[in-house]
Amino acid sequence: MIRAVYPGSFDPVTNGHLDIILRAARVFDRLSVVVMSNQSKSTLFSVEERIALLQEVTRDIPNVVVTHHGGLLVHFMQSEKAQIIIKGLRAVSDFEYEFQMALMNRTLDDGVETLFMMTNNQYSYLSSSLVKEVARFGGSVAELVQPVVAAELRAKFLAATPSPDFT
Ligand code: PNS
Repeated sequence: MIRAVYPGSFDPVTNGHLDIILRAARVFDRLSVVVMSNQSKSTLFSVEERIALLQEVTRDIPNVVVTHHGGLLVHFMQSEKAQIIIKGLRAVSDFEYEFQMALMNRTLDDGVETLFMMTNNQYSYLSSSLVKEVARFGGSVAELVQPVVAAELRAKFLAATPSPDFT
């Protein structure tokens, strides 16, 4: 049984992430999607909210499990006895950062391999940050995320929008 782990911030999960999840779930026997913390990002959604959204959008994929880990990815890999990290690559601009992380993870544990899946063309421009920016200013994210995610984004930004004050 070959297990793979797809780590990320998923703040929130986009159709680009979902595309990678669907394709990786076809290749591996079991895929753990793991919500992790990225020290350079502050998040809109709590860990619990991000997990709930991921669970909702992956509920029809039987070999996918969603979980969370607060520490190093390699420690999660060891606890899961998994060797393969899946990462999505959108563009050359992703490469340097991903390359650094892959090498760091291999330095920390040389039993771990990072495999990159090229994003679907249709999602090559898509990121959680851009989705949040569009949603924050009232743009449509219907093509970018699943309906449940769009609804949660709307709820977040409606709650955060102060009533207009032009005085
Ligand atoms: O979706 P992101 O923010 O690009 O994902 C990055 C993430 C969360 C996978 C990465 O920051 C990570 O692995 N964080 C956990 C801490 C860790 O293991 N750091 C060392 C790897 S370089």
